[in-house]
Amino acid sequence: MPNEGRSPYLPIPMHVLHAYYESTDNSLKTLELSFDDPQDAREFFAAFNPGQFCLLSVIGKGESALGVASAAWEGDFVRFTAQKLGSVTTALHALKPGDPVGMRGPLGNGFPLAEWKGKNLVIIGGGCAFSTLYALTKHLHHPSHRGDYGKLTVIYGTRTSGLCMYKQDIAAWHQRDDMEVHQAIDVPEQNWLHHVGYVPDVVKEVRPSPVNSVAVVCGPPIMTKFTLPALVELGFAPETIFTSLEKRMKCGVGKCGRCNLGPKYICKDGPVFSLAELNALPADL
Ligand SMILES: Cc1cc2nc3c(=O)[nH]c(=O)nc-3n(C[C@H](O)[C@H](O)[C@H](O)COP(=O)(O)OP(=O)(O)OC[C@H]3O[C@@H](n4cnc5c(N)ncnc54)[C@H](O)[C@@H]3O)c2cc1C
Ligand code: FES
Repeated sequence: MPNEGRSPYLPIPMHVLHAYYESTDNSLKTLELSFDDPQDAREFFAAFNPGQFCLLSVIGKGESALGVASAAWEGDFVRFTAQKLGSVTTALHALKPGDPVGMRGPLGNGFPLAEWKGKNLVIIGGGCAFSTLYALTKHLHHPSHRGDYGKLTVIYGTRTSGLCMYKQDIAAWHQRDDMEVHQAIDVPEQNWLHHVGYVPDVVKEVRPSPVNSVAVVCGPPIMTKFTLPALVELGFAPETIFTSLEKRMKCGVGKCGRCNLGPKYICKDGPVFSLAELNALPADL
């Protein structure tokens, strides 16, 4: 948490800088939030690590956990993409530039970037859970970080092409010669030039090499369930496979017990875990 003096339950006052739809069906909206107090911005970015999340609050509606979709170098704002589901995310979708929002965070552990130095990274995402992987890729693209890592491979699947997020950046990623990008949709569409099929099948088709590599998987539970064994089959050791878990959250700081996974709290010990860590947890979770 930024500002050690601040109660972890006290939201940072923020306001909406930009708000725009990501998907053609308007189910996914991106909010870029600015800090009311520049000191809060300094403290947030001193603590932030890609893979972390925040709890966004709208007065009278409640709080929702959302993964951070921006890299620190992009500027003094924090980006989130929310899928419209229930009361809080509907209220977030209604926000306009200038509107106030509360934000608690950054929360959770984030990706173990120091541990991954010198490795090739295989980044595998599905649906709106790609948000934190987008932040990770943007972080890695910064010239001061890019040299610390080997080859980047991104595999990103959505149900339809209209649900693909961050389209402009992803189109630019296809042109980069320091990374390999594979996009997929579930069923064929006219003029689609990339893969057609579910993410685990695309992973088997692309066959990323496990040699000196780590894989990170963020997606809906069904995608993750089939992608993790596909990576093991390709030769990735459980210590080299990472995933980010989602469970409904309340406190976000390991106090209320709402998000436990055996002895672990997803909000505090995660949301990022290696497959080796997950395998060590009781089987009946
Ligand atoms: C660490 C973490 C990161 C997340 N990152 C993102 C993100 O980047 N973008 C995004 O759109 N969503 C993300 N989520 C999910 C998001 O928190 C929920 O969709 C949101 O809180 C729903 O709130 P609501 O009030 O709109 O819906 P509610 O009225 O609370 O619920 C609407 C429906 O969604 C289901 N639901 C609610 N919360 C969750 C959840 N955590 N997991 C699965 N189903 C849920 C409910 O069971 C119900 O069916 C994340 C969740 C976690 C824990
Ligand atoms: S949300 Fe309270 S312990 Fe995790």
